[in-house]
Amino acid sequence: MKQTKPSYRVRPETAVLTSGFDPQLSVGAARPPVYRSSTYVFHSPEAAERAFETVLGRAPASSDGGADLIYARLNHPNAQIAEDHLVPLERGADAAAVFNSGMAAIVTVLLGFLERGGSMVYTRPLYGGTQHLIHQIIEPLGFVAHAVPAGDNRAMRAAVEQAESLQLILIETPANPTLTMSDIRFAADCCAARDPRPVLAVDNTLLGPTFQHPLLHGADLVIYSATKFLGGFSDLLAGAVLARDPRLIQHLRGMRALLGNILQADESWILDSRLSTVALRMNRQSKNAQRIAERLARHPKIRRVLYPSLFEDADQIRIRDAQAEFPGSLLSIEIDGGKAAAFDFLRNLRIGRNAVSLGGVETLVSHPRTTTHSELSAEELDAAGISDSLVRISVGTEHWSDLLNDFTNALAAADRGRE
Ligand SMILES: Cc1ncc(COP(=O)(O)O)c(C=O)c1O
Repeated sequence: MKQTKPSYRVRPETAVLTSGFDPQLSVGAARPPVYRSSTYVFHSPEAAERAFETVLGRAPASSDGGADLIYARLNHPNAQIAEDHLVPLERGADAAAVFNSGMAAIVTVLLGFLERGGSMVYTRPLYGGTQHLIHQIIEPLGFVAHAVPAGDNRAMRAAVEQAESLQLILIETPANPTLTMSDIRFAADCCAARDPRPVLAVDNTLLGPTFQHPLLHGADLVIYSATKFLGGFSDLLAGAVLARDPRLIQHLRGMRALLGNILQADESWILDSRLSTVALRMNRQSKNAQRIAERLARHPKIRRVLYPSLFEDADQIRIRDAQAEFPGSLLSIEIDGGKAAAFDFLRNLRIGRNAVSLGGVETLVSHPRTTTHSELSAEELDAAGISDSLVRISVGTEHWSDLLNDFTNALAAADRGRE
């Protein structure tokens, strides 16, 4: 979409509402319409030829920077509008591509940047689906994938130095569901020491785009499950990738056209409509979560609360202070009494809902070992610290003291049930 930028620099909260959509191109509509067309009419056969030359990289893009529209699997106005609004939210980004889920974004990055004979390094734990994707599709295709424990710089350096034909590093920080942080700057420096330099991709779903800015720490790609905070209401599946270098995004758009996993027009419109409130929601959710986490940490039935403001490990504190502005709204608790106690806690919740996913305005609570991360082997789960007693809480925008009461009541009820 043709850009309508103010003549002076504006901050992300302003840019998300003022850039990237020109009402004059849509009969003056203040909100973008949904363009549900699967195909686009060319004004001449020459224009059609030029559009295909451009999309195949044989001719430069048109002077307004927008690719000519051809067919909605390649590109469509609502994807472009959402992408134009995502860019100002991600510090350091110059281009974005939207996908029809977070997994679609991740698989497109992996297949887009791994070439025959190549290898990758990834931090563990990752979201269970991502780890499963590596085991079920990436490794059987012949790519070597080296896992390093999240937050372990020494292991990261060794893996990056030793991996043959290393093409990609994938970091999820903080890691889902242990909240362990990995050092983005350190991984970027490891990448820079290799020739050719591998691509560094960071899954920023848990803290971005508001609290953590991987591109400013040397990452090449930022990946999102936009189903989470960007979408914000648990009613949409979407994914996004952003980069400083538009050529990386151009490459992913080419892959996206072949894989057919672009975000559809209606979903792009919904995602776009949520972007102006992402910082408001994330700030409120993070404040709620911090108040709750710090109180639950003193609860006698809770062995441990995993949450960035409660880190005790000096290295984790160093990484947090270097790259995370606020602790975010995901926390995990380890409840005394193992799986039975964890399940009782879930059963007795009245406000928090026992559901997977995270980042929505409603509080969601789950047991990762038997749900989101159940594809992993017992050995991988243990190595990652995803125990039977671990419960993950995604804190929403409800009043924090109602949530705290709900959690303490559920802990007490669970206890009574077992007396
Ligand atoms: C950190 C992280 N990355 C990626 C994904 C996958 O995203 P989606 O469910 O939108 O495909 C998830 C899903 O929970 C996630 O938590």
